[in-house]
Amino acid sequence: MSRKFEGGKLVIASHNPGKVREIAELLEPFGADVISAGELNLPEPVEDGTTFIANAKIKALAAATASGHVALADDSGLCVHALNNDPGVYSARWAGPKKDFTLAMQKVEEALNAASSQDRSAHFACALTIAWPDGHTESFEGQVQGTMTWPARGEKGFGYDPTFVPDGHTTTFAQMEPETKHAMSHRANAFKLLVAACFEDEN
Ligand code: IMP
Repeated sequence: MSRKFEGGKLVIASHNPGKVREIAELLEPFGADVISAGELNLPEPVEDGTTFIANAKIKALAAATASGHVALADDSGLCVHALNNDPGVYSARWAGPKKDFTLAMQKVEEALNAASSQDRSAHFACALTIAWPDGHTESFEGQVQGTMTWPARGEKGFGYDPTFVPDGHTTTFAQMEPETKHAMSHRANAFKLLVAACFEDEN
């Protein structure tokens, strides 16, 4: 059985205020008094894991041990099946130092055209790790399956959204209303697993 969050301070191991606010709203009903790693001036560890869960664990453990509070971290990315799941944990890095996702989407398309396979299937993955100061961790991974499309379509969302069409839909994530995407996303699926295991009562 998973260890439960007993309430009190919960450090979000992110320096992105938008992400912290979203997570705070999600977890406040469970008695989480959310504070960000940024507000606590916690150092950002090197994310040198080769899986999403490994990187989420590195970040959550670093924040929990440095702060003495329970900490939550996430890591996410796009996995294109014909590219051996690239860009994967390097999804942000494919956009270069200028965080240019037009370039990153183009790189994925070029790699797909160069691949011998016609398979354009892909998934987004989101790992969440909750860590306690004693080193205990619980990790969860949510996914959403889909297909890479070209040219890019839509202005909403971020990252690779304009080239990803989730299964069962004809529009890209970037053409959907944010609520529609958020209801089915890899992040939503990971949070469902986390909340069921660590934040909700059994009965
Ligand atoms: P991070 O986990 O916030 O570091 O995100 C890693 C990278 O994965 C982002 O910079 C995006 O490129 C990509 N990514 C993660 N989630 C999404 C999504 O929902 N839509 C589009 N791109 C995403």
